[in-house]
Amino acid sequence: MMAGDRDQNDRATQVPLSEDSPHSGREEKGATGYPLAGVPLSGSSPHGGREGEAPRALPVEGATQVPLIAFKGVTKIYGMGNATVAALRGIDLCIDEGEFVAIMGPSGSGKSTCMNILGCLDTPTAGTYMFRDVDVGMLTRNQRALLRRHYQGFIFQGYNLLSRTSALENVELPLLYRGAGAHERRERAMEALETVGLKGWESHTPGELSGGQQQRVAIARAIVTNPAVLLADEPTGNLDTARSREIMDVLTGLNRDEGITIVMITHEQDMAVYAKRQVHFRDGKVESDELNGGKV
Ligand SMILES: Nc1ncnc2c1ncn2[C@@H]1O[C@H](COP(=O)(O)OP(=O)(O)OP(=O)(O)O)[C@@H](O)[C@H]1O
Ligand SMILES: [Mg+2]
Repeated sequence: MMAGDRDQNDRATQVPLSEDSPHSGREEKGATGYPLAGVPLSGSSPHGGREGEAPRALPVEGATQVPLIAFKGVTKIYGMGNATVAALRGIDLCIDEGEFVAIMGPSGSGKSTCMNILGCLDTPTAGTYMFRDVDVGMLTRNQRALLRRHYQGFIFQGYNLLSRTSALENVELPLLYRGAGAHERRERAMEALETVGLKGWESHTPGELSGGQQQRVAIARAIVTNPAVLLADEPTGNLDTARSREIMDVLTGLNRDEGITIVMITHEQDMAVYAKRQVHFRDGKVESDELNGGKV
C-alpha cells in the first residue's frame, strides 16, 4: 500500500484534529506545522484490523522496522525549586511491535510515571519519545489525545468502569468518543466482550460482576478500538492469584493471537513470567532489561 493510500484509509487521518475542542473550530497543527494526518503512524498490518482502521502493526517484508516505542534519555522532574523529585532520570527503552513487556521495580522507581508518558497522559521534562515514526514531543495536546485514542488501550488497577452502566455500554464508550455509529459500537463491543470471555454478561453492571470480571470488562474496553499497544498499570493488583492468572491468560492470548503489543507494570514475579521481557526500574533508571522464556 502506498503512503497516499494509507492516508485515505487510515481513520486517524480523517478525524478532525480539533475534535477535543469543539468550540474552537480551529484545526490544530503540531509544532512542526504538520497535523497528525500527515504522520506515518500506520503501515500494512499482518494482523489486519478492520477496514478503514488504523493498522495495528507495521510492516511489509523488507521494510525497515521502526520500534513501536522508543524512549531516548526520557527524564521527568516533578516540582520546582528545592522541592523537585526526579521520577525518571534518563530512560532509554525500545519496544517492538508484538512484544509483551513487564515493567517491574520498587515503589517510587518511576514505573507509573513512565507508563503515563507512554500513554500520552504526561510529557517528559527532557528526552524524546518516538511512537513509530512520530516524535510525540512535537505533537499538540489534541494530537496526543488522538494518538492515545486511536493507537493505545489502557487498563488500570482500579478498572475505572462507569458503575451504573452495563458492561456493554462501558466497552462501547471509547468508540462513542471516536464517533462510531450505534450498530458498529454494539457489534464491536460484543466481540470484545466475547474475546475476554464475557459473552452473556453484557447487560450486567460492574456492581453485579466480580473483580476478575470487572477487569475483563476493562480489558474489553481497552481493546475495542483495536489499539497497537495495551498499557496496563498493575492489572492484577486487586485480584487473587487464580483470578490474576485468568487475566494474564487473556493478556497472553491478545498478544499471541491478535498481535497486540503489551506493556504491563507488575509487582509480582508470578505475573511477570507471562511476559516475554522484563524491564526493572530503580531510582528512575532502567536497572536491567532481560528476555524471559515467557509462558506463551
Ligand atoms: N504528580 C507528581 N508530583 C510529584 N511527584 C510525583 C508525581 N508523580 C510521581 N511522583 C514521584 O515520582 C516518583 C516515581 O513515582 P511513580 O508513581 O512513577 O512510581 P512507581 O514506580 O509507579 O511506584 P508504585 O510501585 O508505588 O506505584 C516518586 O518519588 C513519586 O513520589
Ligand atoms: Mg505506580
